[in-house]
Amino acid sequence: MKKIGILTRDCAGVNATIRSIVRTADNFGIETIGILKGYDGLIDELFIDLDERSVSGIINKGGTILKTSRAKRFYKEEWQKKAVENIKKNNIDGLIVIGGNGSLTAAHILASKYKIAVIGIPATIDNDINMVDFTIGSDTAVNVALDALDKIRDTATSLERIFIVEVMGRNCGYIALNVALAGGCEEVLIPEKDINIDNMCEEIEKGNEKGKKSWIIIVAEGKAKAADIAKTITQRTNLETRIAVLGHIQRGGRPTSIDRIMGANLGNYALNVLKEGLSDHCVCFNNKKLRTIPLDEAIKKKDCDFEKQYRLIKILT
Ligand code: F6P
Repeated sequence: MKKIGILTRDCAGVNATIRSIVRTADNFGIETIGILKGYDGLIDELFIDLDERSVSGIINKGGTILKTSRAKRFYKEEWQKKAVENIKKNNIDGLIVIGGNGSLTAAHILASKYKIAVIGIPATIDNDINMVDFTIGSDTAVNVALDALDKIRDTATSLERIFIVEVMGRNCGYIALNVALAGGCEEVLIPEKDINIDNMCEEIEKGNEKGKKSWIIIVAEGKAKAADIAKTITQRTNLETRIAVLGHIQRGGRPTSIDRIMGANLGNYALNVLKEGLSDHCVCFNNKKLRTIPLDEAIKKKDCDFEKQYRLIKILT
């Protein structure tokens, strides 16, 4: 193996992962190409050379130095063929794809349909990759949201207000649930669980009568809009509400030590297994051990059992 390519999505810890891959490759005398703007860059041949110096000073930076895109056109065969043509034309012997479900699905297409050597590294704030303990970026996202929530709590407590805080997670309640537990919130609304809003409003009213005036409710964006929940609560309880939508601040920011350490380990491991000839797999921590998982397994829906954690949130309020 003489030359590899790296393609990324963005979240905290991705740059630390790029650094690990490039420097591990350099140790083996393998050249590294950075593919700019995700799969769009693979199709449009936006390639740059990376070496041990070009990845210095990035370990503490959020986002991705390679930039990224949501390249929907990659799902059309004509663009897949163009991407494969560029890989071959540039003598790229293997690809490491760092990203979430969409990026890993495209990686699986390249490996299984076009026989390109590809290893994935799960990186997404949603922590929704099957058989993976933690994805790169998820620890930072929870901590960023928690930091914002702690600030909101100051006002919620001082003014005895009800706050509805919307966090990211289109199909997954991971961030919402963890922020709710770590932030001591009263309720959490996630896509994986049905909540009776009437019961919730009744609980708020009863609490209010007994003197519990301040509530913080976390809602995952994939479940409902904070504004809609706030409106319903006000209509049914006549109590004042405020909302905060945290949005993309959760995907950026300085990576936590956990995300950097995971990036260092997974980047190094990915290069090693790719060099040894493995393809169509992703590397990850599974049951706290470094492992490889077939990509077609990794992209299946993650079986999340959030029930115990939800019960704990309710016990502790
Ligand atoms: O998959 C990560 C994620 O941040 C989700 O939590 C969120 O729903 C989505 O991406 C937002 O995507 P975009 O930045 O393309 O709007």
